[in-house]
Amino acid sequence: MSKLPIAVLISGSGSNLQALIDKMEEGILDVDIRMVLSNRSSAYGLERAKKHAIPTCVLSHKDFESREDFDSEMVRVLKEAGVQAVVMAGFMRIITSVFLNAFSGQIINIHPALLPSFAGAGGQAEAVEHGVQISGCTVHFVNEKMDNGAIIIQAAVPAIPGEDVKILSDRILQVEHRILPQATQWLAEGRLSAEGRFVKLGAANVAKAELTADFPCLINPPLESGF
Ligand code: GAR
Repeated sequence: MSKLPIAVLISGSGSNLQALIDKMEEGILDVDIRMVLSNRSSAYGLERAKKHAIPTCVLSHKDFESREDFDSEMVRVLKEAGVQAVVMAGFMRIITSVFLNAFSGQIINIHPALLPSFAGAGGQAEAVEHGVQISGCTVHFVNEKMDNGAIIIQAAVPAIPGEDVKILSDRILQVEHRILPQATQWLAEGRLSAEGRFVKLGAANVAKAELTADFPCLINPPLESGF
């Protein structure tokens, strides 16, 4: 199968990037990561990319007068690298129509909450403070509004009201590392079509859509006998 040339946009640790690289190297994810782009030079994800000989680029948004100027330069760099689709994996910038139009329908983002709850930065802390019993993560298409595009896949994990935010964030990250590579593979296979808010997943070419045995918990606290 031909590989979809993608860019991964990051701002930090890049553990989601690592999950993508691992699946790519296992031969399960049919993408070619042409570029890892970060708006922060200190992002550890850049080191991860370098370890796997993936080209990197740092563009600091602070060096540009407007969001549009920053986005234009990102588009120029990514187009020059032959990128056709973009995975935002912990990229903490809002993009403009300049970027959206350049990769129309080919930009996905991972968010550490069950959207539409807790959009924006710090969603995990807000979930803990709110006392939710279930949290999770969402991969969605990117549109002009923050964390708003059509939802591709979501995973739920238990949350314990008042628990340490870091503990919940790590629990969510574990499932992020599962659903982001999966959504990226569906994108690479051309199986995703969005009509308004609704994303349809086309049938697999081969029988590979098996459910995994260790499905995340969907109801928490667990139901008791008889319910
Ligand atoms: C992830 O939890 C991702 O969902 C979140 O940043 C973290 C990046 O971790 N993204 C957002 O909050 C976007 N609004 P990583 O750098 O280890 O992949």
